[in-house]
Amino acid sequence: MSPRVATVDTNARIGKFVRRFAFSIPLALFILAAPHHARAQGAVSPPADGQTAFNNSCRTCHSMDAGDNRLGPSLHGIVGKKAGTTEGYQFSSALKGAGFEWTKDKLAAFIESPEAVVPGNNMKPYAGLTDKATRDAIVAFLGDGN
Ligand code: HEC
Repeated sequence: MSPRVATVDTNARIGKFVRRFAFSIPLALFILAAPHHARAQGAVSPPADGQTAFNNSCRTCHSMDAGDNRLGPSLHGIVGKKAGTTEGYQFSSALKGAGFEWTKDKLAAFIESPEAVVPGNNMKPYAGLTDKATRDAIVAFLGDGN
């Protein structure tokens, strides 16, 4: 084997390596950029999906399962139910005495500002939801045969 052949051979191998490496740069950049892209999109538009919005804003304290009272009462079948009457839950006197039935409009107003709908209620700490699209998505989810 002459040294000259070996050099050609080595050059060819280096060339192949460089080509392969160059090829992988855009791929690596894509992989690095992808999660940032996804996160940026999530920050721009809030979840329109009611289940996700419910999980983000309500699920810490509420379950949708019948009889599953946590820090807050179960919200199973809440649309059309008389306020403050869920069995097995100790409501504040404010909610017990509210005297109305939960409609979708009442629910939307309540999750925007609980104090404005039932003064003296005990749904705390809860800051209220300023985004209308998110409120509507949650109310639709609450009414979806749950
Ligand atoms: C920090 C805990 C907490 C969070 C978060 C929370 N709640 Fe509540 N919620 C409560 C508590 C506690 C009560 C009972 C208040 C009372 O007795 O005055 C309540 C009561 C309610 C009621 C009245 C139920 C009935 O049977 O009359 C509704 C409706 C309700 N919450 C909906 C929601 C929705 C929808 C969200 C999310 C957008 C939410 N809550 C977020 C704790 C919470």
